[in-house]
Amino acid sequence: MAIREIRILGDSVLRRPAEEVAEVDGDIEALVGDMLETMYHASGIGLAAPQVGISKQVLVIDLGEGDEDGVGAFALVNPRVVEAARNTAREPEGCLSIPGMEEVVERPESVTVEALDHQGQPLVLKASGLLSRAVQHEIDHLNGILFIDRLSPLKRRLLLKKWSKSRAEEVAS
Ligand code: NI
Repeated sequence: MAIREIRILGDSVLRRPAEEVAEVDGDIEALVGDMLETMYHASGIGLAAPQVGISKQVLVIDLGEGDEDGVGAFALVNPRVVEAARNTAREPEGCLSIPGMEEVVERPESVTVEALDHQGQPLVLKASGLLSRAVQHEIDHLNGILFIDRLSPLKRRLLLKKWSKSRAEEVAS
């Protein structure tokens, strides 16, 4: 396993819809291992393949201390949301590709997702709470969508302003 470089807002790979995985082979298993290691190293709870520059429909999640259901670490390949609750939840969200930024995002409270696991076996995941939020956030990445796209235009503008400022300071220091 190896830690891969996390792509940051502005990298075009984050905006490209990821390709469906035709076969879950050794390369995908290795990618999943690297993604988990990269995510743990960055203290994240979810990571999508485009965030490490691989435009494939693969994501990993490990809620760590927030894992109330004891789901542990897992990968989803070619995930599809097949059902989403009508009621929504508003909670703060961040992203390893937009480090340091956080904002409240409204999402369906629960979702049902169909996918393949890291060995290519089909699975159905019914998620609510933090797990639902993490899964939806990572599936968004596979469609080239970032959490800032789900903010009001004003909130998005303010966040991007803060972001450019923090980036400029980082370059200067
Ligand atoms: Ni993210």
